[in-house]
Amino acid sequence: MSPINFQFAIAIILFAAGQAHADDNAGVSGEKDFNMYCAECHAEDGKGEGPKAFGLSVKPPDLTQLTARYGEFPAEKLARMIDGREPAPGHEEREMPLWGKWFKLEAAEELGGAEGDEASVQRRVRNVIEHIESLQQQ
Ligand code: HEC
Repeated sequence: MSPINFQFAIAIILFAAGQAHADDNAGVSGEKDFNMYCAECHAEDGKGEGPKAFGLSVKPPDLTQLTARYGEFPAEKLARMIDGREPAPGHEEREMPLWGKWFKLEAAEELGGAEGDEASVQRRVRNVIEHIESLQQQ
């Protein structure tokens, strides 16, 4: 292969890799979302000692102990809670933001609404939940 063709081949491979990434929910994974939006309170390891946790009236719960506390991983409950439709236990005034709304707004602004549909928002919440499930310690 001549050097020119070689560079061309590399460009194609990089382009293809970029496309594959773009298909993956606009490059958003549950882990990235968690680290970006949740870790400031819950910490990247989920144990609840993120930099913002200390200023809150309610301490963020340890998200690595959910399976241990609930008996099984409470995926459905988390979906409603993170989305914002289920009140967080024992607190009228939530310290925790409503993520369903936020993901929807953010998607509508950044991506012209294409990814702001209910299905994409729920997929994003589900991916975050899968990431939390992967943090469980028993
Ligand atoms: C501003 C700080 C803050 C951020 C950011 C935050 N949380 Fe929370 N979270 C809390 C607090 C505080 C609680 C305890 C309940 C309450 O007061 O709302 C909580 C409760 C929870 C619970 C309930 C766990 C249980 O004990 O049943 C889950 C699950 C959860 N958060 C997940 C998330 C996820 C996922 C994100 C990111 C999308 C997130 N949190 C972002 C502060 C935060």
